[in-house]
Amino acid sequence: MTGIIIKEALPGDAAKLLEYANQIGKESDNLTYGAEGLTVSLEQEMEFLKKNAEERHSVFYLAWKNDKIIGAANLNGLSRRMSHRAGLGISVLKAEWSKGIGSMLMQKLIDYANANGIEIINLEVRSDNKAAIHLYQKFGFQTIGTSPAFFKIGAEYVDFDLMYLDLREGIKQ
Ligand SMILES: CC(C)(COP(=O)(O)OP(=O)(O)OC[C@H]1O[C@@H](n2cnc3c(N)ncnc32)[C@H](O)[C@@H]1OP(=O)(O)O)[C@@H](O)C(=O)NCCC(=O)NCCS
Repeated sequence: MTGIIIKEALPGDAAKLLEYANQIGKESDNLTYGAEGLTVSLEQEMEFLKKNAEERHSVFYLAWKNDKIIGAANLNGLSRRMSHRAGLGISVLKAEWSKGIGSMLMQKLIDYANANGIEIINLEVRSDNKAAIHLYQKFGFQTIGTSPAFFKIGAEYVDFDLMYLDLREGIKQ
């Protein structure tokens, strides 16, 4: 796609990433935060991005258009007996939905996982988030089951599907 660049996030991207997070929090009820945004300091966000850049089983990609962040996706590596697994998060600015940016980010994450010994990717998604579930299924994710009342937004309980992608075949250790 022309004009869109996907790069690994650096600590220096923290301010723009917080601005982006505040925007996407307002645009859907699919994330762990809403209009209040990500309540973390610039220093905490910089430290988070530094750790992501250093840890082999974690990575944070940003999609940029004209010097503005329009998408983000990350793998969060786990520890000890779960160190073969990583959790996945992904988002795109609403104005850019359904233009293939989520797919570009997913491909980057899966390529990274394959090249860095991540064997299983796990994620949780609102059971009614049809676009995200379609995207995950397109990349081979399978549904494990449904976790009832996974979110409570005000008085509303929201069910989530638990999904995973098994990359053990063909992995480079
Ligand atoms: C989920 C999300 C990241 C997808 O990003 P995107 O850039 O729109 O993704 P893409 O354009 O690559 O792909 C979206 C796919 O879903 C499809 N789609 C869109 N709306 C759909 C719907 N209501 N039902 C089924 N499929 C739908 C598109 O047609 C496209 O399919 P295709 O690749 O087969 O053509 C984006 O919608 C988003 O940021 N949502 C808010 C945050 C969120 O829900 N994050 C996931 C939390 S688990």
